[in-house]
Amino acid sequence: MPSARSEGFLGHVFVITLLSSLALAKTSILWPNPKLDELESQLYDREGYRSGILGTGMLPTCITFFDGPNTGRANVGDWVRTAYHDMATYNSTDGTGGLDGSIRFPEELSRSENAGDGFTNTLRFITPGLNRYFSVADGIAMAAVVAIEMCGGPAIPFRGGRIDALKPNDPGVPEPQQSIEEHISNFARQGFTQEEMISLVACGHTFGGVQHTAFPDIAPPSNDANNTSGNAPFDSTFVEFDNKIATEYLDGTTKNPLVVGHNSTTNSDLRIFSSDNNATMFSDPAVFRSTCSSLFARMIDTVPKGIILSDVITPILFKPVEVQLVWVGGGNVELWGQVRVWNNLPSQLTHNAAHVTKPHIPGSPGILNTWVEFPQIVLNATESISTFWFEVMNGDSFTKVEDLGGSGYPLQDVVMMSTGTCYTMKNGVLTKLQFAIRADIQPTRVYARYDYFEGRVGFGAYPVTGTFDIARPSDVVTTAGYEIWNVETRFGANPLTIIVEANGEQFETTFTKDSPFRPGTPGSGHGAPLC
Ligand code: HEM
Ligand SMILES: *[C@@H]1O[C@H](CO)[C@@H](O)[C@H](O)[C@H]1NC(C)=O
Ligand SMILES: *[C@@H]1O[C@H](CO)[C@@H](O)[C@H](O)[C@H]1NC(C)=O
Ligand SMILES: *[C@@H]1O[C@H](CO)[C@@H](O)[C@H](O)[C@H]1NC(C)=O
Ligand SMILES: *[C@@H]1O[C@H](CO)[C@@H](O)[C@H](O)[C@H]1NC(C)=O
Ligand SMILES: *[C@@H]1O[C@H](CO)[C@@H](O)[C@H](O)[C@H]1NC(C)=O
Ligand SMILES: *[C@@H]1O[C@H](CO)[C@@H](O)[C@H](O)[C@H]1NC(C)=O
Repeated sequence: MPSARSEGFLGHVFVITLLSSLALAKTSILWPNPKLDELESQLYDREGYRSGILGTGMLPTCITFFDGPNTGRANVGDWVRTAYHDMATYNSTDGTGGLDGSIRFPEELSRSENAGDGFTNTLRFITPGLNRYFSVADGIAMAAVVAIEMCGGPAIPFRGGRIDALKPNDPGVPEPQQSIEEHISNFARQGFTQEEMISLVACGHTFGGVQHTAFPDIAPPSNDANNTSGNAPFDSTFVEFDNKIATEYLDGTTKNPLVVGHNSTTNSDLRIFSSDNNATMFSDPAVFRSTCSSLFARMIDTVPKGIILSDVITPILFKPVEVQLVWVGGGNVELWGQVRVWNNLPSQLTHNAAHVTKPHIPGSPGILNTWVEFPQIVLNATESISTFWFEVMNGDSFTKVEDLGGSGYPLQDVVMMSTGTCYTMKNGVLTKLQFAIRADIQPTRVYARYDYFEGRVGFGAYPVTGTFDIARPSDVVTTAGYEIWNVETRFGANPLTIIVEANGEQFETTFTKDSPFRPGTPGSGHGAPLC
């Protein structure tokens, strides 16, 4: 990064005041890291302001069904089954298959081992909603984690970095009419022992059931207007995580269609659960919870050989969000952004608590996050800054400087969005982009980057990154050491990033979800103003 233009004023500090202490963990020193930020956000911002789609999809009751109400089904079941079926092609001998998004291919979906519409339901819902930081496979894995956690299940460690397969995997998902010997060897191929097989099937089948629409020979038809798919549930609490799948089996009250089904050939849960004389089946809810947590984690971490997953993604306690320098005209720039403060009651925060959100963390339902807006920070453009930090104060007695372990959070001032950006609605949406580029930089390329979805229809959609080059306009004005570029685009993509390449480096700034200029959504209350 070129050095800041003035050595005199290199940083900026502001203060977040808390009234009680927080447990502090070390902050990741990798910043900015948009992939980590996005994965962390989808994983933990589950409701309300800036929430990702995965948590929102589970609310309010976990039962809301993609196909509409009254199907008698549970969303959570489909998310978990999708993850399992994508993973179940894994061959532990040669490391092929596994959780790699290959279930999106029509060839896999049309196999009898993948009967039912649960996969198209889920894939349709997640792929178009995710972005360049997500593979389909990471989305499938994370959706299962969020669904299980939000529907009463245990916390499940999540790692990111799955890579999508480019072709279907070999078949290999178990089917109910297979023998116990086939099931044992099938799970061994997936990397699970017989005991782990019993556990994982029980963990999965705490949710959902068998639909008449998918397995007409197993679940009888239903005339119930609230059960249009004829969902025969695996246990009496099929929307919630609990060990009733095991206790109802053990005490003989189960209605699990794979245990007490009329055709013993397809009673695979009975054969599996009883295959060690019921020794594994869980009468203890705590053992069930912890066993399922670790087996679900192994399930989603079963990926093709050679893929290295990230460390477990944990909540970032003080998370700077959408921080950027913004050109405001008159030779001034402003530092815009927010900090999400994890596990902080809004009543304990005295400063600019703009939003409060609930992350729905298993075991800690009371956790709330507050989002602190930066105060207005106006800076002289010719001086500018290259880092910022902030202080967290606990009353008068405690001050903690959040500065990435001393280095400060880095900022670039080579390219900045301008508040002069606006829309016209004439002939469709036209964005009049305005941005500022440092006049002492010789850009070798200026371009925009955006996400779009290939095969937009349904579950085949796949996020792709597109770019378009921006030529230097002839009417560029130089002021306070910056060139002001005005560029018109019909592009409404959100986010839209402007990138400047110079000296072999890249500098970028993004129109983001909640910044006051948000292309594509005029009139939404966010969005850039109309011109
Ligand atoms: C021998 C092994 C297994 C067999 C034969 C089997 C069979 C089935 C069948 C026939 C259904 C009904 C699907 C539908 O009607 O849409 C089902 C549903 C389900 N399975 Fe399995 N399964 C097995 C293992 C697993 C495992 C290991 C998991 C996850 C860890 C799992 C998770 C689920 C879930 C969550 C549902 C409910 C789907 C819904 O309600 O929409 N299954 N399973
Ligand atoms: C798993 O991979 C090994 C080694 O390539 C192969 O011999 C075996 O047939 C595969 N198993 C299945 C079920 O495809
Ligand atoms: C369906 O469920 C709704 C809401 O629980 C209930 O009011 C209604 O009576 C149910 N209808 C039938 C046919 O059971
Ligand atoms: C829904 O239909 C299935 C299949 O006929 C049946 O097993 C199940 O008990 C029904 N569920 C309810 C809540 O009536
Ligand atoms: C039981 O299920 C098996 C496997 O689907 C099927 O071949 C057989 O015909 C069924 N038996 C009866 C009596 O329906
Ligand atoms: C296992 O439990 C099932 C369901 O209660 C029961 O039918 C079966 O006899 C049990 N098996 C053993 C070996 O205890
Ligand atoms: C910014 O600083 C420069 C140099 O210190 C000064 O000449 C200029 O007037 C300042 N601009 C504003 C808007 O305060």
